[in-house]
Formats: sequence, structure tokens, C-alpha cells
Amino acid sequence: MTADTRADADRLVAAARAGQDEQAQADPVLDVRDLTVSYIGPDGGTVACRDVSFQLGRGEVLGIAGESGSGKSTLITALTRLQRPPATTTAGSIVFHPAGRPGIDLVPLGARALRKLRWTSMSIVLQSAMDALNPVMRLGDQFADVLRTHNRGMDRAAARTRTTELLGMVGISADRARSFPHEMSGGMRQRATIALALACSPQLVVMDEPTTAVDVVMQRQILAQVLRLRRELGFAVIIVTHDLSLLLEVADRIAIMYAGRIVEIGSARALYRSPAHPYTRGLRDSFPPLHAPLTTLHGIPGTPPDLRRLPSGCPFHPRCPVAVDACSTTPPPLVSLPEQAAECLLLTNEEAS
Ligand SMILES: Nc1ncnc2c1ncn2[C@@H]1O[C@H](COP(=O)(O)OP(=O)(O)OP(=O)(O)O)[C@@H](O)[C@H]1O
Ligand code: SF4
Ligand SMILES: [Mg+2]
Repeated sequence: MTADTRADADRLVAAARAGQDEQAQADPVLDVRDLTVSYIGPDGGTVACRDVSFQLGRGEVLGIAGESGSGKSTLITALTRLQRPPATTTAGSIVFHPAGRPGIDLVPLGARALRKLRWTSMSIVLQSAMDALNPVMRLGDQFADVLRTHNRGMDRAAARTRTTELLGMVGISADRARSFPHEMSGGMRQRATIALALACSPQLVVMDEPTTAVDVVMQRQILAQVLRLRRELGFAVIIVTHDLSLLLEVADRIAIMYAGRIVEIGSARALYRSPAHPYTRGLRDSFPPLHAPLTTLHGIPGTPPDLRRLPSGCPFHPRCPVAVDACSTTPPPLVSLPEQAAECLLLTNEEAS
């Protein structure tokens, strides 16, 4: 890593800490530095995640938003080391800090060491709950399977008791343990998946579009439950979604991705009230406000770039409503503001003056 990229990462981390709970700053659960992930193909590689750096505090909720293809899933499958070829982590580190133990860089870890961390230290909720649950196993058996694999010595009766407790946490009655996934509604399956992710009391839960399969009312109910459980159990959460307005309600901080980079990261309050990056402003204005009178929605013109042929300078310049000439030639610097950090030329003093 060059001195410049290290300085950028340090600035980003410093800014990312802005507005964050002090205890979380002192006690990060995840520290990601310069993470770069490519899809390697016969005609070269597509860099879908470029030099991504951020820190996640213990018990914090970080939302990740961005249009389709911006690299959200690539980032979180790399974070959880669930990526499959042709995806390859080509640079960077992902240091996971188990409570009270030294940090572990997940990037070089082998399959065996990763298996020890999954479920018990970190777990993931995928977009499609139907895919996450085994269609030919009763729900209770799936819970027992996870619980007994990761808690040596747990007998069937204890697993049943814990399953009842876990299902109860997400508002599912104990008799549903006898159901197969196809006998449950989409919302119930999604809540069961979340309960399963919490089965072994992980310190980090990563959720990729956890509520897209359910309606808006159910989305709110599920996320409200996740937040309540987070308060009670203290795990940190990363939630990925297209829906920035949803994140503005539930996240402590939000990272906005565009063309494989985090172009803005900061407190949810700052990104709602005063987004610094024109792309964040565009995203915010593309969704109806949830607790305010309806206003005219403005989409973002154009489409995200082909990652194999990124525009020069700022990758957002062909779509940016406030671009200046320099935007097409000069890569934007990362600029730290009191509650957020963003990559935009207009935020530098020279350009702004
Ligand atoms: N299997 C693959 N092979 C090659 N390139 C891929 C592959 N999967 C993703 N990509 C590339 O990575 C980019 C980012 O994909 P990713 O799935 O991470 O985006 P996303 O932000 O999660 O999108 P969505 O909101 O649609 O889920 C894609 O635009 C594509 O260029
Ligand atoms: S650097 Fe230029 S093109 Fe990029 S977001 Fe800022 S103003 Fe827009
Ligand atoms: Mg995705």
C-alpha cells in the first residue's frame, strides 16, 4: 500500500468515526483496509470493489446502499469470505476483532479457521430466505443442526428449548418448528432466517437485502425486530439495500457505494440532512421520505458505468449534475467533514473557492 492510500484510509477511518458512539470507536468489531475484489475472467479482471476502507464499531448498525452493480454484494461476500471464483480478493485486509481477543485478518484464513468463526462470531442473512433454508428439512431440525454443530455437548432437548427461544425472539410460535419452509409465508421465512443467523450469538450479522422478498410493512417489522435484538444482544450489523430511505431509519452510519468504491460514509443523520456527494443527494432524492410530506422524486440520470471501462477522473462525472471540467480528468480526493467523508472534487477548498 502506498503512503497516499494509507493516508486516505486513515482519513476515511477518522471521518467514519465521526458521529459514532465513543465506546464503538474504542472497540471496533471490524476494520477493513484497502479491500479490492476482482472478478477474474479470460479477458482480464473486473474490479468490483476498489480500495474500500471502513471500521465497524461493536454493536453498530452500518448500512450500505448504492444502485444495482455498485459492488455491495461483492463487498459483503468478501467481508464474510463467502466469495466464490471468479471473485478474488486481490488486496487489503479485513480484521475481525472477537470480543476480548486479538484481531484476526480474515483474508489469509483457510477454510477450517473460517468455519470456526462462522455462525459463532459472524453470520450472514442472504436475500433469498428460501435459498437459505433447506426446503426438505423442518425448521426445528435446521436450528438443531446449527446449534448442535456449534455447541459441543448440546443435547436435543436443549436445542429444542433454544430454538423456541430464538423463534420467539422474531415473533414465530414454537409449533412452527415442525413446519417445512414452503409451509411458511415469505415474511416468516425471512424472520426465521434472521433467528437462525442469531442462533450462536454472533458478534457481527451481515445482511444482504434482507427484506426485499417481503412487502414494505413487513420490511419495517423485520428491521424493527433486528434493531431491538441488536439493542438486547449487542451484535453489530451490516445491512445492504437499494433503499436508502430504509437505511436512514435504521442505520447508525451509512456507506454509499458507486462503481465499486465507497464514495461517502457518515452518520445517517448527516447523509439525510446534508449529503456531501452529489450521488448521495441523487439517491436520497430518488426515494420518498418516510416521515415527511411527499415531494417530487428526482431519479439519477443515466446508468452506472461498465466496471471494465470506468470513465476517467471521477467515475460519476458523466451523470453528475454539478460536474466541472476537472471532474473528467482528476480522480476526486477523499475529503473529511465533521460527520462524514466523501470523494468529490467540489469539497476541496481549492475547487470550492
Ligand atoms: N460472477 C461475476 N462475474 C463477473 N463479474 C461479476 C460477477 N458478479 C458481479 N460482477 C461484477 O461486479 C459488479 C458488482 O456486482 P454486485 O453483485 O456486487 O453489485 P450489487 O451492488 O450487489 O448489485 P445489486 O444491487 O443488483 O445486488 C457487477 O456490476 C458486475 O460487473
Ligand atoms: S468529483 Fe465532480 S463529477 Fe465527481 S461527484 Fe464531485 S462534482 Fe460530481
Ligand atoms: Mg447485490
